[in-house]
Amino acid sequence: MTNTNADARIEWVQSQCRLLRALREEYEQTRPFEAMTIGTGIHLEPKTVTLLLALAAGGANVVSTGNLNTTQPTAVDYLRRHGVTVVGGPTRDRAEHQGFLAEVIAHEPDLILDNGGDLFARYLEAPYEGLRGGTEETTSGRTRLAGLRDRLDMPVLVINDSPIKQFGENRHAVGQSVFESMLRITNIMTNGKRVTVFGYGECGRGVAMNFRNAFAQVTVVDHDPVRRLEAFLDGYVVASREESIRGADVLVTVTGASDVLTAADLPLLKDDAILSNAGHFPFEIDVAGMSTDASVKDVAANVNGMDTWTLEDGRRVHVVAEGHMMNLSGPLPLGNSIDSMDLGFALQARCLEAVATDRVGRRDCVVPVPRFIDERVANDYLASRTTAEESVGHSAVPLSR
Ligand SMILES: NC(=O)c1ccc[n+]([C@@H]2O[C@H](COP(=O)([O-])OP(=O)(O)OC[C@H]3O[C@@H](n4cnc5c(N)ncnc54)[C@H](O)[C@@H]3O)[C@@H](O)[C@H]2O)c1
Repeated sequence: MTNTNADARIEWVQSQCRLLRALREEYEQTRPFEAMTIGTGIHLEPKTVTLLLALAAGGANVVSTGNLNTTQPTAVDYLRRHGVTVVGGPTRDRAEHQGFLAEVIAHEPDLILDNGGDLFARYLEAPYEGLRGGTEETTSGRTRLAGLRDRLDMPVLVINDSPIKQFGENRHAVGQSVFESMLRITNIMTNGKRVTVFGYGECGRGVAMNFRNAFAQVTVVDHDPVRRLEAFLDGYVVASREESIRGADVLVTVTGASDVLTAADLPLLKDDAILSNAGHFPFEIDVAGMSTDASVKDVAANVNGMDTWTLEDGRRVHVVAEGHMMNLSGPLPLGNSIDSMDLGFALQARCLEAVATDRVGRRDCVVPVPRFIDERVANDYLASRTTAEESVGHSAVPLSR
């Protein structure tokens, strides 16, 4: 993509992020982050560009790096041209990524916007004066940071625990984009295919729903019997784990847990099975252990970032994007829909604003988004999708508790 095309794409995203656009205009006036540094460790792609520029409009010195395997060079270039400091670039190398995170923390940010808990964990290795708190985007990050609550002792608001994030992004948008990615990367037809979804949280519900809506036969596997019951009552097949693997044409992991599929499962897989992951970390499918198992006699790179393993008995198994998050992988990885990310990122901005302006305190350490922020963002979104004039007027009012 030339810079002009890439810029046009970023500008299209900005034009569709109505909440962030209104926030940017508001922040240019109210400057809630004046003289503060915000350190971010979030996927760098056009939608996050819009968020980071809104924070910068509020007076922040934004220092950011991406996540493993999802950084888009065109987004990095755009951010740099618009005054945001971006540390590093695209990488799949964990050690290199850790180095980038350390560099962000070396700027001693006043606020952290984290995605997976990496930046807060880094901060705890070498704490400095002046960190006020921040936000964590994901379920995986919340689980990690909850164990560090005593040591953090500062406001950390978990965006993923907002009901708006749960149903707006995790259920509706992740489901849609995972489904879209499967078609885009594999070009398969889903009608009549047997799809097994591991994990029936909000993300898994959305993934299962989208494949079912596309005429696939969907089976759900979950550790939790309550979630299995819910899936059953929602009309999905709930079978034993082994049976669910055996029958599947497509397997999608979206649990947040490691080693959901391992080399021990290779004998169960059907010929031509497609393995894919939508969970945050690339450890849900043990790609290294599976691809080097003695039963795998050949590994070949396939189209669109998919690899094919040929087993000694002749079966072929395909793995999408080496087990990295499929909806941010492959050609033209657009990720979740713009509108859903606009919602989630408005929560991010409002939460950082609440930390920066002391509307939350130390007792709010690794807690869900406060209700007053959820209500504000819900009202703004509804207004922005009903009458455009209203949305701008509505967001011009500063956040109040
Ligand atoms: N791809 C994306 O764009 C995207 C967006 C948001 C979140 N995520 C990630 O998706 C993952 C799931 O998020 P969520 O909000 O649905 O989480 P969740 O905690 O609500 O649900 C996870 C479910 O997986 C089940 N589970 C855990 N280990 C399992 C295992 N080994 N086998 C089967 N089931 C298992 C749990 O019982 C739970 O029901 C997380 O890693 C999250 O960070 C991805």
